[in-house]
Amino acid sequence: MKVLITGANGYLGARLMKDLSDYYDAYGTYHKTGPSNKLLQLDIANKQEVIYAVNKIKPDLIVHASAIPNEKKCEQDIALARSVNVDGTANIAEAANAINASVVFISSTAVLDPEKYGTYGKTKFEAERIIQKMCKNYLILRPGLIIGQSPNTENDRFHNKLLNNIVKKTPAVYDNVQKYEVTWAGQLGEVIIKAKKRNIIDKIIPVVIDDYKTRFEIARDILQKFNIKVASKEEETIVDSGWATAKTLKEMDLKVYNYTEIIGKTVGEIKEYLK
Ligand SMILES: NC(=O)c1ccc[n+]([C@@H]2O[C@H](COP(=O)([O-])OP(=O)(O)OC[C@H]3O[C@@H](n4cnc5c(N)ncnc54)[C@H](OP(=O)(O)O)[C@@H]3O)[C@@H](O)[C@H]2O)c1
Repeated sequence: MKVLITGANGYLGARLMKDLSDYYDAYGTYHKTGPSNKLLQLDIANKQEVIYAVNKIKPDLIVHASAIPNEKKCEQDIALARSVNVDGTANIAEAANAINASVVFISSTAVLDPEKYGTYGKTKFEAERIIQKMCKNYLILRPGLIIGQSPNTENDRFHNKLLNNIVKKTPAVYDNVQKYEVTWAGQLGEVIIKAKKRNIIDKIIPVVIDDYKTRFEIARDILQKFNIKVASKEEETIVDSGWATAKTLKEMDLKVYNYTEIIGKTVGEIKEYLK
């Protein structure tokens, strides 16, 4: 099976590229950063470019992981966030339909509270609706805050900040106010492979554990294994409502991890990387 992964140079996209390459004939796209000779340059906001790239590769499956995922960047340039997160997703859906490819859309649990997550949450929410409306054979995966090692160790994603604390041996300070659903990066590839094998289609699957943690708590539990001190910015912990759970994973008989397991996996992956 031929798979095309968008944003394959990004934090999650690069991890998906690595994990899915073991099972499929995998191709990837990058946007600005890269390039690698394995990846194709593509601006998903440009419809003609998307149609050209998808027609050139003719994948059976498109895993759509590219987006503007940074909440601050989305607020700073709402038009760009909309053109990439919303219009870009419509371009992918249209190009996939033209060659009868199925689509796995990497969404976010932020869609459960679009008001709280602002433009990022709203654009991911709209993108989900587009996928549901336009695609003939889709899966929407909703990760929470993702941890786990990726070939992209450089950008601003949370896991890479932790890695930076470890590599530079710097004491860390993280927010202890907002609790998040947590996701181990490796589980997304696992779910895609299992779902494809079992022909699970047209579903929304939150890929999360049944536990909610602040960035401080996750940082503490990972960084203490590397003897890095972690402090919290605030004392209080706000518990919010509307959380995603692992219920759908359980109902579909897909693997459910617990917090201790995903911390263990992440620490193991970091140790392997540091060798
Ligand atoms: N990390 C998390 O905790 C988390 C949690 C929930 C959901 N997600 C979702 O997971 C996906 C991947 O996020 P990530 O954390 O891996 O972020 P990331 O590292 O910033 O990856 C995003 C990718 O999108 C690409 N991109 C941006 N604008 C583009 C454009 N116009 N055309 C084509 N590609 C473009 C970027 O390429 P360039 O860098 O080359 O511009 C980058 O490779 C996103 O859909 C995000 O919403 C992430």
